[in-house]
Amino acid sequence: MNRYLASSLLALCITPAFAWQGKVEVSTPNTTMLLQANEGEDLRMAYYGAKVSNPWQVSDAGDDLGFSAMPAFGTVDMIHLPALQIQHANGDINLELIVANVETRDEADARVTVITMKDKLHPVTVRLCYKAYTTVDVIETWTEIAHKEKRAVTLKRFDSGQLTLRRGNVWLTHMHGNWAAEAVPTQEPLTPGLKVIRNTDGARNAHCDAPEIMLSLDGKPQERNGRTIGAVLCWSGNYEMRINTADAKTHHLYAGIDPQSSEYVLEPGETFATPHLALSYSDMGMGGVSRNFHYWARHEGMLHNGTGVRDMLLNSWEGIYFDITEKKIIDMMDDIKSMGGELFVMDDGWFGDKYPRNNDSTSLGDWVVDKNKLPGGIEALCKAAKERGLKFGIWLEPEAANTKSEFYEKHPDWVLQTQGRELKLGRGGTQLVLDMTNPKVQDFVFNIVDEMLTKYPEIAYIKWDANASIQNCGSKYLASNKQQNMYVDYHRGLVKVMQRIRAKYPDVVIQDCASGGGRANYGLLPYFDEFWTSDNNDALQRVYIQWGTSYFFPSNAMAQHIAGSPYHMTGRVMPIKFRCDVAMSGRLGMELQPRNMTDEERAQCTTAITDYKAMRQTIQLGNLYRLVSPYDREGYASLMYVDDARQNAVLFAYKMENFINMTMPRLQLDGLDASATYVIHERNVKHGDKASSLDGKTFTGDFLMQVGVEMPLDGDYASRVFEITKQ
Ligand code: DGJ
Repeated sequence: MNRYLASSLLALCITPAFAWQGKVEVSTPNTTMLLQANEGEDLRMAYYGAKVSNPWQVSDAGDDLGFSAMPAFGTVDMIHLPALQIQHANGDINLELIVANVETRDEADARVTVITMKDKLHPVTVRLCYKAYTTVDVIETWTEIAHKEKRAVTLKRFDSGQLTLRRGNVWLTHMHGNWAAEAVPTQEPLTPGLKVIRNTDGARNAHCDAPEIMLSLDGKPQERNGRTIGAVLCWSGNYEMRINTADAKTHHLYAGIDPQSSEYVLEPGETFATPHLALSYSDMGMGGVSRNFHYWARHEGMLHNGTGVRDMLLNSWEGIYFDITEKKIIDMMDDIKSMGGELFVMDDGWFGDKYPRNNDSTSLGDWVVDKNKLPGGIEALCKAAKERGLKFGIWLEPEAANTKSEFYEKHPDWVLQTQGRELKLGRGGTQLVLDMTNPKVQDFVFNIVDEMLTKYPEIAYIKWDANASIQNCGSKYLASNKQQNMYVDYHRGLVKVMQRIRAKYPDVVIQDCASGGGRANYGLLPYFDEFWTSDNNDALQRVYIQWGTSYFFPSNAMAQHIAGSPYHMTGRVMPIKFRCDVAMSGRLGMELQPRNMTDEERAQCTTAITDYKAMRQTIQLGNLYRLVSPYDREGYASLMYVDDARQNAVLFAYKMENFINMTMPRLQLDGLDASATYVIHERNVKHGDKASSLDGKTFTGDFLMQVGVEMPLDGDYASRVFEITKQ
């Protein structure tokens, strides 16, 4: 059960305080967080890191960290930053939190510790929650704020959590990027002062800077070694992560909703629960932290716990864009079926009656089929898919409207807007974002999906897109004194809708898309099965984008499609095998017009799809080992997946640069059983070529991991896929 569905059950099973006595240990299988919770005093964070036999020795080892676990404005000294600030009903802007109580409750796979703190003066309660998993080294932390003041208070800063680290040669890795260039790992040492990572797009938060970071405690980040902490904010809206280095002894990480223009007005009796901040620690470098987050995602952080293998699909967008006709769609179904695909998805361009959607400037909001393009309607397409033994999927952008739409003519009040100001328009010069704070709009959005799935129960997949930032920062629904609640209430409204959809349609696969990877985050993954990794399907650049995305997200969440060549964005010409091999390392799909493919391309794709289906259990649900980074400019990049039993593995290698006589490292594998013997088979062998000399050879696990093998990668865009099986 994932954490959001479970939360309603939790309140039932709180147990009284256990062995509290001021010392609180929050432990996972290999990590411990220590908190000093002396009644009547501020809560202190003493340690977070590897589990050792007696971690409290930290107090005798010179000094523990001893900093406030949730530094509040009014308590924390003015050198350090607050994680929490409240303006009380009487205007006072201070808080002095003291511990009142510690409770724990056990869940199937976690222990939740709740530390209740109260302000010394005003009736404000702050509950700091730590959920420690018993199956994986991840601790989720979040804050619940409530009050009984006479009037509303304003939350001026409301971080999900704060982490104190011992100061040292600590390096930060964060994902900086852009549209079509997502998830570029940026690495830098922490220096004195404040480092801020934030995103204020409003509706999406993973383009530019994403809400996930790693901190390498032993100097320059390493993939396979070094003490490393990962932090992931499970939120889809504006956020801010701050790392402050203000004294000689500590660094402080703060993470939460970005408070700019978003100071939240909280009524008496309401509880404000912040998003969860998931923390992980590993002494196996960035790779160890990634695997922890992937495991956690597959068991907790994603819908259906990320289980089950995903279908291989063709998506219509880059093949025909808005130029949809029934014939073209059915031809595409025939084509993907003939190559072994299982699902066809019709992208943007299928809808609009008064305003047909022929480009991106009209029709969002009018979710009726364009009968000129599709005379047989969706029924005919569902029928055609069924006859071919394919599943059918459809594109929607439910949170948006164009000014040129019947929807907007009828409901101009249902879009975000500022009173008396001209609307700022987005994509196509006409796009607006719906006011998801408004329950009527939430019903409208729910009904788009509900009506679609009720009318066409054959629909097995929805691509849920979001192509606009919030530019009009106001809501007609929210009261004038609550306008600043919009950024938060927008995402709460969206989550409410998703919860309703999931309660009724738990099994429809829904892709989270936002102009590519703009919503690749753990705020939405509890309700979605996967995300669109990038609008950029250039296979060479995809190696980098997928590499960066893999630091935090598992492969079955990452949609990766084989595109046409030359690729329309970059003009790059790439062999079909390279394009297939790059897409095969995640959830495989296609994004092209099959009618434009050569026979050779079709044949290679057919082989790739057949081989992928045979190996996808390991690729989609296995543990990732990144072996050679494309960023290290070693000439090639390589990664592998190993299943939990270390029985099956799949290895990918991609030539990134090609020069005569270049030196490339011998490839040392990882994650295998050292004492076992494995046989190697090459898969998706290039048509017209023989398999490499590694094919059919056996090696011991320790040889593969310590000595390694030479990667046979000759020529521009050479690539290899090997299946490695324990004998
Ligand atoms: C942006 C998405 O990222 C694309 O894949 C495609 O669905 C377009 N929107 C359609 O408008």
